[in-house]
Amino acid sequence: MLNCRKCILNLKPYVPGKPIEEVKRELGIDDIIKLASNENPLGASPIAIEAIKQAADGVSLYPDGSCFDLRNAMAKHLSVEPDMLIFGSGGDEVIFHLAMAYLDPDSEIIQADPTFSEYGTAATIMDAKVIAVPLKDWTHDLTAMLCEVNERTRIFVITNPNNPSGTIVSADEVEAVLDRLPEQCILLLDEAYYEYVDDPAYTRAIEWVIQGRNVLILRTFSKIYGLAGLRIGYGIAPKHIISALERVRMPFNVNSIAQIAAVASLADPNQVARSREMNKTGKDYLYKELQRLGVSYTPTQANFVWIDTGLDSKEVFTELLKRGVIVRTGDIFGCPTHIRVTTGTQAQNERFIATLTEVL
Ligand SMILES: Cc1ncc(COP(=O)(O)O)c(C=O)c1O
Repeated sequence: MLNCRKCILNLKPYVPGKPIEEVKRELGIDDIIKLASNENPLGASPIAIEAIKQAADGVSLYPDGSCFDLRNAMAKHLSVEPDMLIFGSGGDEVIFHLAMAYLDPDSEIIQADPTFSEYGTAATIMDAKVIAVPLKDWTHDLTAMLCEVNERTRIFVITNPNNPSGTIVSADEVEAVLDRLPEQCILLLDEAYYEYVDDPAYTRAIEWVIQGRNVLILRTFSKIYGLAGLRIGYGIAPKHIISALERVRMPFNVNSIAQIAAVASLADPNQVARSREMNKTGKDYLYKELQRLGVSYTPTQANFVWIDTGLDSKEVFTELLKRGVIVRTGDIFGCPTHIRVTTGTQAQNERFIATLTEVL
């Protein structure tokens, strides 16, 4: 009998936000908005889109496996050395690089619960033990997480801001954790929503990387840069960590168009500023309207809001879907009355509120 590895038997395939085309096919409606996957409703930078068109001619060639141009542009952008960077097919892939490089069946990873699913998935594939520590007031309970650290701990994850709750922990709190982690352990600081955060107490993680501490910062072009469809993310870490990750990276893991689009995106700071501004306006509008409706939510530092409807989230999801609004149900995060809603354009936010009002 052909058996797959035991450790993957309980894994379930990732459930993505429902694609617009699928809803069109299933429900026969055309006017659909997707607020389910924390994408940027403004799209990518026009400069990046132009660069993508120009890059089409080069697709018969393999991409540059070392991401030379992007590596140098990013190193300059962040003021780090080029070899403190690793690029992946989405931040997701960098999470897998980290797991492949550091986890084995005797090791453990500590993360929050609920949080982004892929750390747990990658660790499970490596047959490592996943320790998930419940959030406290929707924020990482760092004290409880630290209590789980032992000699088998290899990766300690802080998702900052956390997905799905949108909350952050301050740089001082993160540094206090870093000071207490044993030397065989890496702090994975997932900052996928970094560019949206406006709390001044937020991260100074690049400093720790430059000091050579055991930190991997994860960031992505999928969110504020609007390149989710091209799949490109990156890790920033001291050279000794990057060189371990490079050993497990596949030769041409980041496609040529993604590399060119990412370089072009870095050259357009206006798009980031516009997106931040629109997100802020969108958040304020959603807060005001949710308060008016008497619906509770968790204030967010990201581009999505975690909302407790008090009702079965699958039913709320289905009713919103029938009216052309796609959101994310909380049940996949173990929160059966919550929904997670990406901030959209003003028109999309207004439509979401009008539809939610009808559904509730
Ligand atoms: C917290 C967090 N980290 C990482 C990712 C991975 O993003 P990507 O693989 O698109 O770069 C996501 C995507 O939703 C996320 O929410």
